[in-house]
Amino acid sequence: MKHSQFTVQGVPFFSLGGQTYNSTSYVLADMPLAFESVRKLGGNTVATPICWHAFEPTEGKFNTKYVTDIIDLARIEKMHLIFLWFGSWKNGNMEYTPNWVKCDRARFQRSMCRDGSELGVLSCHSTVNQEADKKAFIAFMRLLKEYDGDTQTVIAVQVENEPGIVGPTKRDFSPLGQKDYESNVPQVLLDYIAAHPESKLADFHRKAGSAPQGTWAEVFGDFGAEACEANALCRYINGIAKAGKEVYDLFLYINVWLDGGSKPMGWDLAGVDYPAGGAVSKVLDIWYAQADALDAICPDNYKNFASMHRDVTDLYSTKTKEGWPLYVPESHAAALNASEMFYAIVDKGAIGYHIFATEGVLGPDGEVHDRAKPMMHSMHMLSAIMPVLPQACQAGKAISIVQELGALGQLFRYDGWKIRVSYNGPGFGWGAKDRRHYKPEFQEGVHTFENDGEKGRGILLIGEDGYYYLVGHLIRLFFERPEPADGHYPISLISVEHQASNMSVLDLTEGHFDEEGRYVVDHVRNGDEKHGIWAMWDCGVIRFKMEG
Ligand code: DGJ
Repeated sequence: MKHSQFTVQGVPFFSLGGQTYNSTSYVLADMPLAFESVRKLGGNTVATPICWHAFEPTEGKFNTKYVTDIIDLARIEKMHLIFLWFGSWKNGNMEYTPNWVKCDRARFQRSMCRDGSELGVLSCHSTVNQEADKKAFIAFMRLLKEYDGDTQTVIAVQVENEPGIVGPTKRDFSPLGQKDYESNVPQVLLDYIAAHPESKLADFHRKAGSAPQGTWAEVFGDFGAEACEANALCRYINGIAKAGKEVYDLFLYINVWLDGGSKPMGWDLAGVDYPAGGAVSKVLDIWYAQADALDAICPDNYKNFASMHRDVTDLYSTKTKEGWPLYVPESHAAALNASEMFYAIVDKGAIGYHIFATEGVLGPDGEVHDRAKPMMHSMHMLSAIMPVLPQACQAGKAISIVQELGALGQLFRYDGWKIRVSYNGPGFGWGAKDRRHYKPEFQEGVHTFENDGEKGRGILLIGEDGYYYLVGHLIRLFFERPEPADGHYPISLISVEHQASNMSVLDLTEGHFDEEGRYVVDHVRNGDEKHGIWAMWDCGVIRFKMEG
């Protein structure tokens, strides 16, 4: 079946976590640091590779202990796992295939360049290659079902890793690849074009002359080479996923080494800038049209400036309503991601967000180092508010607050209120002030103008009980009623510093949710602590009511 979210024993599960370095899972003794780093970040899931060559070192003989040892450890650590099947592809090459595959070039066809040279990439046009990978994947999924089907420590499997060809070609020129290129475009894609005239694929088709059918070159012109490779790659991986799902119906997804999307900036050439055939913006429709055994097509979002990062979030969430949820399996543990993840989760319904190289967030003293602190703050905030967040998002009652570079404040209209957000800049009111946070660094705008500095951010929602809930960092909120229609300003609007609107805030507290999901009050705020509703990451969940 198609899954639109991660679940554990049928209950929706939001995954916050980190992916280990590529070689960590070979040696069990290297894994505890990964769990520790995710725990310190505030996450609940570790993602780590299961490498085909280590799982099936000899053809037909499977090393099950390699997998079950990691599951056992995750259970002791009280963490969930996502396994990454490093099979035919890892970063657009075949480095993780077993030696018996690598050393038998006659049986396992490589992708070829036009001059006949072979690449270190298996051909996705070969059913022999696919069958070998599929057999191993089935054995892996069967093992997961038998060992973990009840407990469900493992919540998902990534099928392959950043697949496609990395090499000087947009497509595989091997005899099998050439044959596919000269074959007709499958009807399923022509039907998709007819049903989605607004899609990129339809656009390519129109630009190439709108042939009703024909070969890849006839239907798509210049775009035909990359489209043909994407089609074969999608079918290869979907076939493996389908066989695995028949054995164990788990959430399955692929990850994507991205192109430049709407901001190419050099990330443009298939094979050179990204693996040819992978589900990048140009060919995403080809994947959506046919990958019925995959639950998500996921961007590795390392884009390191806000507008481009957000473009990726938007692009890979355009089909959430059609059952393709957004999950970000890899990103930097950097300040930008720590802010943009709020947008991805609240505004675009992301079902999980992970960073790559999780062990690397710990410094030599074993603590999260400064550069990763914004990510740690965000993960703690998200897990604190998670008991009420998904319902509020679904009901359209949550907003994300994300400071743009250089912005001192922002204005939201929400639930009949105008809400001014001050990003702790000099523009509005006094700095956060209580016995724990009354420090000089919180009095002035902090990092407001630094690209990699920590930004103000938060999530505000209305719970099913009618209370407002807030998590955030470096933000302060003022609620105002919209100005009266007769044109006068209420006195509270004139005295910006005193924002008398704080009188309308009732029962302002900090707290947390207990195991049963009940809100428990930890601190009460009033007086100086109530000049605006300010939030720092370590305040837990702030709850209040507004006067009716
Ligand atoms: C994306 C890949 O999926 C990861 O395995 C890793 O190689 C990172 N890139 C970068 O190091």
